[in-house]
Amino acid sequence: MKFKSNKLKIENVTVQSIARKYGTPTYCYSYKQLRENILKFKKNFKSFSPLICFAIKSNTNLNLIKQIKKFGLGADVVSLGELILALKAGINPKKIVFSGVGKTAKELSYAIDKNILLINAESKSEIYEIERIAKLKRKKVQIGIRLNPNTDAKTLNQISTGKKENKFGVNSKLFYELVKFCKSSKNINLKCLSVHIGSQILNHKPYEKMLKVIDKIITKTNYNFDFIDLGGGMGIAYDEESKKLNYSKYSSAIKKFLKNKKMKIIFEPGRAIVGNTGILVSKIIYIKKNDKKNFIIIDAAMNDLIRPALYGAVHQILPSIKKNKKSKKIYEFVGPICESTDKFSSIKNFQLLEESDIIAICDVGAYGMSLSSNYNLRPKPLEILINGSKIRVIKKRQKYRDII
Ligand code: LLP
Repeated sequence: MKFKSNKLKIENVTVQSIARKYGTPTYCYSYKQLRENILKFKKNFKSFSPLICFAIKSNTNLNLIKQIKKFGLGADVVSLGELILALKAGINPKKIVFSGVGKTAKELSYAIDKNILLINAESKSEIYEIERIAKLKRKKVQIGIRLNPNTDAKTLNQISTGKKENKFGVNSKLFYELVKFCKSSKNINLKCLSVHIGSQILNHKPYEKMLKVIDKIITKTNYNFDFIDLGGGMGIAYDEESKKLNYSKYSSAIKKFLKNKKMKIIFEPGRAIVGNTGILVSKIIYIKKNDKKNFIIIDAAMNDLIRPALYGAVHQILPSIKKNKKSKKIYEFVGPICESTDKFSSIKNFQLLEESDIIAICDVGAYGMSLSSNYNLRPKPLEILINGSKIRVIKKRQKYRDII
């Protein structure tokens, strides 16, 4: 996203022309940014060449996942739907890991039939269930056990997953017990220790702590894991002032951890791969003034992008055409949905806006469209992928007949 002669552009295409041609609200992704993110991610960790499993939950667009697959990435899935999608995108089952605390017998059975790389189990009951199904199928199933390392990821509470009060993984005591159980099982092949401490992590220190915890546990179990799945969580800068995750420190900590170990590292990044690739283009329907504020009522709403309403997340908003005149009032960007939480952000000193102006909500490539809904019976937006001057519709706008 860049302004060129005062026009906001995604690659070579102006946001204004996207709105004109495709209508609003519309999700637009940049292929160039996607490519850059993947190559950078690989480069950051190239000294131990990890298996990178894209967290499908962050963006479930089939076409986008097909592009991601071309760079050799695997997938981290958390439901049967995501597993089917990953396979449909052509991702090799031997690069798919299945996470989640509540996998049903149907989901496990399907994953076992497809011979995916790992089912990362999160409880004793789940391991028993995997063993039961594997036995019926006369198979030996590769699994991981997700450890809850009781590490504070220092991120939003709602997206912290590695503390003991969280539902995820098992504690160290149970971990040892389950390793023992797996060793004695004929139908389970324990291959991996997995963790995931949270999302939108900008500080490398929680990762360092987590690695120390795992290190101790591995020594104590004295078990040869083929894989260590460190999950995802790498944060991105949603605004210019935000600090950035220090990849080189995280990578060094992993290198240190891997000393004298022959284990392959797996990552499950979502946001770091797609977060900054997308914008949501929207049009101002009305401007409604009161004594204090100007409510900028746009045609995108919390059903299209729920992060601000759900987590108080802040996404930068940009005008599609830059002007010099500034507003003296606070602009409160809101959607048309009948809830006061249907609000994107309050901004002071924004440039003067008018009804019908086009704006872009930034960094919505992760957990934007994938968390969208039909609340208020609003059809889901169109999705397009831009590569240079080329525009491809990668998902059609939902029609009323799809939802009524
Ligand atoms: N692996 C596991 C097991 C996960 O639970 C998650 C995310 C990821 C990988 C990918 O995390 P990432 O690299 O994208 O941070 N809806 C929230 C984020 C929820 C994340 C849930 N788990 C948001 O909009 O910020």
